[in-house]
Amino acid sequence: MSTLKISDGVVKDEVLVLGLASTNSKGGIAIEAGDMAIDTKTILSQLVDMGATGKADEVTKLPGSHVRLMVFTGLGKKSPSYTHETLRRAAGSASRALAGNSAATFSLPAKSLAEVAAVAEGAALGAYTFTEFRGSTKDDHKAPLKTITVHSKLASSPEAMASVVRAAVIAKYTYLVRDLINTPPSHLTPDSFTKKLAAVVKAAGGAKSGLKIQIWDEKQLKAQGFGGIIGVGQGSANPPRLLHISYTPKGRAAKRYAFIGKGITFDTGGLALKPAAGMEAMKSDMSGAAAVSAAAIAIAELKLNVAIESWAPLAENMPSDTATRPSDIITIFGGKTVEVLNPDAEGRLVLADGLMKAQSSKNKLDGIIDVATLTGAQVVALGTRTSAVMTNNQEFSDEFLQVAAQSGEQFWPMPLPEELRASLDSPVADLANIGDRMGGMLVAGLFLKDFVNPELPWLHLDIAGPAYNEAKPHGYTPVGGTGIALRSLVTLAEQA
Ligand code: BES
Ligand code: MN
Ligand code: ZN
Repeated sequence: MSTLKISDGVVKDEVLVLGLASTNSKGGIAIEAGDMAIDTKTILSQLVDMGATGKADEVTKLPGSHVRLMVFTGLGKKSPSYTHETLRRAAGSASRALAGNSAATFSLPAKSLAEVAAVAEGAALGAYTFTEFRGSTKDDHKAPLKTITVHSKLASSPEAMASVVRAAVIAKYTYLVRDLINTPPSHLTPDSFTKKLAAVVKAAGGAKSGLKIQIWDEKQLKAQGFGGIIGVGQGSANPPRLLHISYTPKGRAAKRYAFIGKGITFDTGGLALKPAAGMEAMKSDMSGAAAVSAAAIAIAELKLNVAIESWAPLAENMPSDTATRPSDIITIFGGKTVEVLNPDAEGRLVLADGLMKAQSSKNKLDGIIDVATLTGAQVVALGTRTSAVMTNNQEFSDEFLQVAAQSGEQFWPMPLPEELRASLDSPVADLANIGDRMGGMLVAGLFLKDFVNPELPWLHLDIAGPAYNEAKPHGYTPVGGTGIALRSLVTLAEQA
């Protein structure tokens, strides 16, 4: 990962990144150089010659005079101040475009420390690559920036260091989520997922940092009644696991949250086999598990005053002679029975076990949040960049939507209409795992609701679209795993 710095000194880096805004509809542009004094006259005419417009995601490079390279990143319409997310994205686009360079200084229009932090975060999040599995073509790929310096006259303020540290922690654990998502199922099984996370917990200080890790293997899962995880995982040669990472702060915790993340290391659909076209994207079906596990460790590293119980039910959904058959009945942890009408609706089965287990602990929870690439219907409803929030508690949902907006992650509230619940009734079990096809995202949410104590504030985050970017990179978002949900979960803990 790149090193993050903040400085108000003279720029000696080879590359200087500045903002560019559009001033009118006729192609007018203005340089937004933040705290840096820049003689803009000749540069502006060169930028006009280059056709630069200042729109978001536009990056224009010019040879510099006292620096090697000047990079102008689009901010959109000129404004007295820019939103944190505009700054994050502009910084991210520039740092993506700067792969192959070793160091860059970012001077964007950031007045407050929060704006400076947004620049640092965006620049760091944009400097990501995934080259672990490149062999002979490894050297064809330009390395991301090694050093990112944010230029600001607030560099010497007492809080400056903390905001840079925060940005670095956010970037580090977002990278972890992205790496896990991008790792193919040949190299990421339920077992290896738990081993990778155990190593990360250890590197983060383990018990010294308040972190505890517990792993259930398939024998223990079976013996203790985790019928959802076992049922989904039983068709695979790679047996399922349950991973629990908990963080206990030093003092008395302000809040205690449980996070449950869907951890399907590959979703073939099981005996309801998915079509071949596009199935490769189902290596991302463990995005929720990666996000909640990484968030728990990030919250520990930031020493936030909130207790976290993260749960990752992990399984590989495969078709085989041992796979769950349509019509099979399984028993979720705690005793509820489910008729599996469609083995491709597997996420809700492992989550049901996770939700029930999380609520069985003696520690009283203030809230419970599940995170899952749960339904194709989510993508149809909200597209690939907006995730859904469903809840049994309006206040908790409002609080989450506020922190999500602050962190720059797009979430939108969705209802859980009671009348759809009847479609999940089963003639032979307590409920079935599929109901009405119409409103499929909401039906999945209603299924999960059956496994949550109605008194406990609960959020269901369906991140099916935003978890994995199959289109072009944009802002600080690369192709492949995005790391969505981590920043909202960490920000929620910060605000508790
Ligand atoms: N993992 C998929 C959902 C998904 C689809 C995630 C597209 C990301 C992108 C999930 O397990 C699934 O297969 N859901 C089914 C449910 C249906 C059988 C009720 C779906 O959405 O088609
Ligand atoms: Mn599925
Ligand atoms: Zn799935």
